[in-house]
Amino acid sequence: MNENLFKLPELKLAPGLPFIKPIIQGGMAIKISTAKLAAAIANCGGVGIIAATGLTKEELQQQIREARELQLNKSGLIGINIMFAASDFNMLAKTAMEEGIDLVIFGAGFSRDIFSLGEETNTPIIPIVSSPKLATISRKLGASSIILESGEAGGHLGTSQETKNLVREVKAAMDIEEAKDNKHVPIIAAGGAVSGFDLAELFKLGADGFQLGTRFVLSKECEVSETFKQMYLNVKESEVVKILSPVGLQARAILNDFTQKVLQGTVEKPNGCDNCLKRCSRTFCIKRALKAAESGNIKDGLVFVGKNVCKIKEILSVNEIFNNLEKEFQLAFSKVTLNQPTLTRQSAEQDFIEPLPARSKF
Ligand SMILES: Cc1cc2nc3c(=O)[nH]c(=O)nc-3n(C[C@H](O)[C@H](O)[C@H](O)COP(=O)(O)O)c2cc1C
Repeated sequence: MNENLFKLPELKLAPGLPFIKPIIQGGMAIKISTAKLAAAIANCGGVGIIAATGLTKEELQQQIREARELQLNKSGLIGINIMFAASDFNMLAKTAMEEGIDLVIFGAGFSRDIFSLGEETNTPIIPIVSSPKLATISRKLGASSIILESGEAGGHLGTSQETKNLVREVKAAMDIEEAKDNKHVPIIAAGGAVSGFDLAELFKLGADGFQLGTRFVLSKECEVSETFKQMYLNVKESEVVKILSPVGLQARAILNDFTQKVLQGTVEKPNGCDNCLKRCSRTFCIKRALKAAESGNIKDGLVFVGKNVCKIKEILSVNEIFNNLEKEFQLAFSKVTLNQPTLTRQSAEQDFIEPLPARSKF
């Protein structure tokens, strides 16, 4: 059997960038997705993302330089993720561009100006959106690719919609635009994907690439504390909840003493503030709560998590995760590709095999 027939279709995120594996690691602040994780992903041919939110200029410079040192080959890319809601948004974006970052991803709010900055420095800008309307606006503003983040994702949420529905809707809106200008702007699905079967389903619906956060937290290379990872492995479905973040958005997190207090409205108000957000309800200090969790205080910290965390059963190396994603994707399409040498979206749509449960191992 020729394994090449079943490969994940490669992706070009922007005209000046090389073809890569269509797997983007979600940016995860604060200090969850760092240089080590980002470089491991890039070394596997995907896009490794350093979360810039909450870092100082010097910390971000150091993270980008460290990731470049750990990058062993040119098969993948290194980018940064910044929350638009952060006060330091412009400074962090400019710093990353000065350091020669491959691309900038931004979410939790929407900036029009960043696209001109990207154009000036020749840096692809990839927005995270949660609606066909913002996807269409992003396309008009010059986004080279667009990430669609659903209500199944971890962290801040811009919608309660499922990933599959969001992909369907945005794909339909993008097809209308594509018919007008004959330009394909890739769409990347984010939220709830943990296996190659999930990727196959999303590909069938029109996604060109996939952003995964939670799956990569449970990797050997992720530098978050071991207690944080163990909490992910032991959490029950009923303990995955949504809270209202001081940013003004819903956010998915694990139920613990801290989120219990947030839900009951008894959480402690911040004592002092470094104005890390452009706008903050000041119900609690999100920066301190995320930092506490990252360093291992999982009782009193804020532990962001994706909806399908319970489907992940083990901590693996990034290389093993990539191998599994690719094998499972191939398996989901094996019947299609046996009859048809090249995997196209059309062949996938015509003859798609229902995915096996995400927990199966190969
Ligand atoms: C612990 C954690 C922290 C996150 N922090 C950020 C962040 O700083 N910025 C951002 O745009 N998205 C953030 N996200 C969302 C991820 O980048 C990604 O889009 C999302 O988790 C995808 O869903 P999944 O976790 O189900 O794969 C975070 C997610 C998690 C689980």
